[in-house]
Amino acid sequence: MIPPHARMVERLLREGDLAPEWRDGFAAVPRHLFLPEEIADVDTGAPVDRRRDEQRWLEAAYADVPVVTQVDDGARYGPGAPTSSAPAPSSVAALLRRLGAEPGMRVLEVGTGSGYTAGLLARHLGDDAVTSVEIDFELAEEARVRLMSAGFTPLVVSGDGMRGWAGRAPYDRVVSAVAVRRVPYDWVAQSRPGGRILTPWGTAFHHGVLVDLVVGPHGTAHGRFAGYTDRTWARAERAPRHLLETHVWPDDDEHTTTRSWLHPGEVVGDSDGAFAVGLQMPDVHRIVRFGSGPEDPRFTVYLLDPSTWSWASWHIDPEHRDTGYEVRQHGPRRLFDELESAHLLWTEAGRPAHTRFGLTVSADHQLVWLDDEATIFAATR
Ligand SMILES: C[S@@+](CC[C@H](N)C(=O)[O-])C[C@H]1O[C@@H](n2cnc3c(N)ncnc32)[C@H](O)[C@@H]1O
Repeated sequence: MIPPHARMVERLLREGDLAPEWRDGFAAVPRHLFLPEEIADVDTGAPVDRRRDEQRWLEAAYADVPVVTQVDDGARYGPGAPTSSAPAPSSVAALLRRLGAEPGMRVLEVGTGSGYTAGLLARHLGDDAVTSVEIDFELAEEARVRLMSAGFTPLVVSGDGMRGWAGRAPYDRVVSAVAVRRVPYDWVAQSRPGGRILTPWGTAFHHGVLVDLVVGPHGTAHGRFAGYTDRTWARAERAPRHLLETHVWPDDDEHTTTRSWLHPGEVVGDSDGAFAVGLQMPDVHRIVRFGSGPEDPRFTVYLLDPSTWSWASWHIDPEHRDTGYEVRQHGPRRLFDELESAHLLWTEAGRPAHTRFGLTVSADHQLVWLDDEATIFAATR
């Protein structure tokens, strides 16, 4: 192991992210083989080119930060939105620790990305036990080459991981690197009874928590939400671009104006509250626009349902603290009223943390419950 790699493994062990049974795997799979020739410097954030400064590049490759490996789905002239990244080593270690994949098991990974996680899984379980699906054809091809150069040959499939990969089912574990708004039923159908599904999950309103499901004997999976995570959306789940510009005209006349004393900090400033509100209005997007400059304390929260062209704007001006903040609502859905009711329901339920909620996935429904399956909190789309 080169020194930065050895330091990474020691750090992950010391900080408790790395399970002891994964130590050898993390030591055997060099992360730098999966990263691009140019990555951000640990201290300055400036790009470091491997060909110019290999030492600094290696330090960056083993730092505990995610590395963006693709922007704009590989398009040349886009806004630079990250569309693939190698997660921070601590986040991969924590995910694998939770996954509980043991030799003898078969795993399906959704979102191969750099191939680093697939390499770790292949080292731990054997090449034949690992199938990884990547939607981007070029990324899949690059990952295959990188994996091979590191000595691994798991099956990397180019395709839509939302359909799983029936060719190698049943799986003991399904682990997704991308966030979904609905757990694809194919993942359940392709799992063995007793198998587990681990995936980032979110709503248009709140992104993202991890959900940890166990597949039951009758084709239904159940489990709880388990901690916050920050993963990219599966390709089909991304919010459309320019949603605000195309759907909201705050200055037209077709809206009602009221005032509210509710401050966004009370709703979205609390992640558990935002999660619970999102459960009740899962298709409603939340977009924040700040005032005219860093000194301007004003901001506006927009709520937006593209399918009914309904929107609400909630304008926060600290000078209006005593008189109430202006709320405008447009369209058939009164989105701010819905948000207030959703927040009230969560408050009246005793402000439960997201870990008290769970999800049941069957062939025809996805239900979110609170504490036990008898207490349905929301049905997702
Ligand atoms: C966070 S990256 C994956 C990181 C990866 N596990 C690693 O170790 O580097 C997410 C990847 O999922 C891919 N992706 C997005 N939607 C997908 C889908 N529906 N099916 C399969 N892959 C998808 C993206 O192209 C991206 O490469």
